[in-house]
Amino acid sequence: MPKKNNNSKEPVKEEKVKTNSSFQLVRGVKDVLPEDQAYFFWIFDQVRELTRSYGYEPIETPIIEKTNLFVRGVGKQTDIVEKEMFSFVDQGGDHLTLRPEGTAAVARAYIEHGMLALPQPVKFWYWGKMLRHERPQAGRLREFHQFGFEALGSDDPMIDAQIIFMTYKIMQQLGLEVTIAVNSIGSEECRAQYKKVLLDYFRTKRSELSDVAKKQLIKNPLRILDSKEDDLLPIIEQAPQIFDYLNSASREHFLKVMDYLDELDVPVILKPTLVRGLDYYNRTVFEVWTSDEKTSQQSALGGGGRYDGLVELLGGRPTPAAGVAVGIERLVALLKEKEIKPTLDYQPDIFVAQLGEEAKRKSMLLFEQLRSAGVKVAESLSKEGLKSQLEKADKLNVKYALILGQKEILDGTVMLRDMENGIQEVIDQKKVIPEIKKRLDKQLKIQAELVKGEEIKSDI
Ligand code: HAM
Repeated sequence: MPKKNNNSKEPVKEEKVKTNSSFQLVRGVKDVLPEDQAYFFWIFDQVRELTRSYGYEPIETPIIEKTNLFVRGVGKQTDIVEKEMFSFVDQGGDHLTLRPEGTAAVARAYIEHGMLALPQPVKFWYWGKMLRHERPQAGRLREFHQFGFEALGSDDPMIDAQIIFMTYKIMQQLGLEVTIAVNSIGSEECRAQYKKVLLDYFRTKRSELSDVAKKQLIKNPLRILDSKEDDLLPIIEQAPQIFDYLNSASREHFLKVMDYLDELDVPVILKPTLVRGLDYYNRTVFEVWTSDEKTSQQSALGGGGRYDGLVELLGGRPTPAAGVAVGIERLVALLKEKEIKPTLDYQPDIFVAQLGEEAKRKSMLLFEQLRSAGVKVAESLSKEGLKSQLEKADKLNVKYALILGQKEILDGTVMLRDMENGIQEVIDQKKVIPEIKKRLDKQLKIQAELVKGEEIKSDI
């Protein structure tokens, strides 16, 4: 309850300010406003279209899961589990976590719904919020969105290549140039052997390691390879490379993936230090980076790889799998930086303008009749002046405006204004829909002819 001033019934001003300021956004989260929604829907449409052709089906897992799913699935010693999970105990005493990533949840769903019985691989795509308690900075939020592809039930290197290719294709369709950094971290056995060699190497450099790296040395020396600390880079560059410790099966698998990517013309670079920060990975790992070195985008747009042991780790039968996830906010930030605008999926052809109360009423009906008849139509029925309505029509780039005023109401007519040349005609209200359709069809035909003409010209 706000405090009352002694002399009046008004709440004390100070209290009001305090109340307002406490209703701000939580640190590290964002409202997705209409401007960004346009990008979100654009990307969503591309993802939906592509996954449809490649046979990936949509899946949505809950935003809360049992905490243990991520502790086991993502790994106890990963950054996500050690320090980034939004975990809590609910009223019933269950230990729950707000989903920090999608893969473990998809693997859980695969097991829980007995999908091993389906023809394999089972391929999914998803789109949703993820939550990680990270230190907020550019490109790093506490609540963000990812889209992801997961294919469970096949260890064919073609699946790895397909997932990488699809991710690349989405970027290309959005107008972004990206490079895919790839590596293989082999099987568990290869890694165990490699870890020993790496441990010995980093021990010889112990005095040059940072405190963080020294800690990683004890827990998992592979993680040092992922370090962004400038001082460590020369040491990391000189480190033994995992490729030399891959067994023949892992090596062959990786070479096939690379071969398929070459066939598909995907720009890949081999990055021997790429290990990824989640424990479920084995064999192929990859990250998607913008090819533009001048951009402010300092982190990967997406990442993924194989996780052949995850389903078994979560209690299912052995099931090889691979996937990727891409961060939508990072993608949108890059698109904006590159001044790439989402293509409008709704471009109205007609604008309904009105003048006066009676005309407004009629316009509401006319608008709905046009919309129901399949015409792409826009309005600003809440605006009063004709000038401001026509300005809006102009901004929307419509072909025609239909204007209803007092006179038209009395005559049973509508004014049709060609927005390109400003020519106005009076038409019968009853004939307005067929007339509009006829004109729009005619324009479509002219445009098609023009495109055809251009194509013939370029063929010659
Ligand atoms: P991840 O590398 O942790 O992988 O995340 C994938 C992408 O999500 C990142 O490249 C980034 O674009 C975005 N992202 C991650 N954290 C943040 C954050 N704090 N703020 C903004 N964006 C962020 C995974 O999540 C794996 N599940 C990928 C995968 C799928 N592996 C196999 N299947």
